Amino acid sequence: MPDTPSPAASDSSAPVRIAFVCLGNICRSPLAEALFRQHAARLGISDRVEIRSMGTGNWHVGHDADARTVATAARHGVDLSGHVAAQFGANDLADFDHVFVMDKGNLADVLALDTDDAQGQKVRLVREFDPRPGEYFVPDPYTGGAEGFEHVHAILDRTTASLAAALKQEYGW
Ligand code: 4NP
Repeated sequence: MPDTPSPAASDSSAPVRIAFVCLGNICRSPLAEALFRQHAARLGISDRVEIRSMGTGNWHVGHDADARTVATAARHGVDLSGHVAAQFGANDLADFDHVFVMDKGNLADVLALDTDDAQGQKVRLVREFDPRPGEYFVPDPYTGGAEGFEHVHAILDRTTASLAAALKQEYGW
C-alpha cells in the first residue's frame, strides 16, 4: 500500500488507529467501521487495530446512526444499535494513523484541518481499496431511498474487506 506510515516507525505493540470519516457519522462511516471490524476479526487482526468512525459535521453529534443504516446493517447481521455519532477534529487527525474518507467533500474537509501540512499522508479515499473500482466515492445515501443504503453496504463490505487484507499485508500481521 503506497504512502502509508512505516510500520517500523511506530510502536509495533500499539494498535494501529484507523478512522472512517463521512459527513454526518450516521450513514456511511458507522457502517464502514462495523464492516471493517467484522473483516478484521475474520482475518484475526482485531487486536492490531483500534477502529472508530466520525463525521466532519457537527449536526448529529451524540445521535444514533440513521434508522435506515441501522436497518440495512441488521439485514446483513451487523448491529449498529450502540453507535453514537461524533465529530472529527484536528486532534483526531493528529491521533489516528489512517483516516479513510468517503468522498471528495470529506477529503477536503479533513485536509483543511491539516493546517501545518504534516498529516495529509494519512488521509485517503476508502474506495482506493475497492476491488471493483468504478466511482471513486461512496455516495451519500442520506437524501435518497432505501436502495441507496443497500448500494452503500455492498460498496463498503467489499472495500473494507480489501482494506483489512491490505493492512494485514502491509504491516506483516
Ligand atoms: P453520512 O450521511 O455523511 O453518510 O452520515 C449524511 C448524514 C447527514 C447529513 C448528510 C449526510 N446531513 O446533511 O445532515
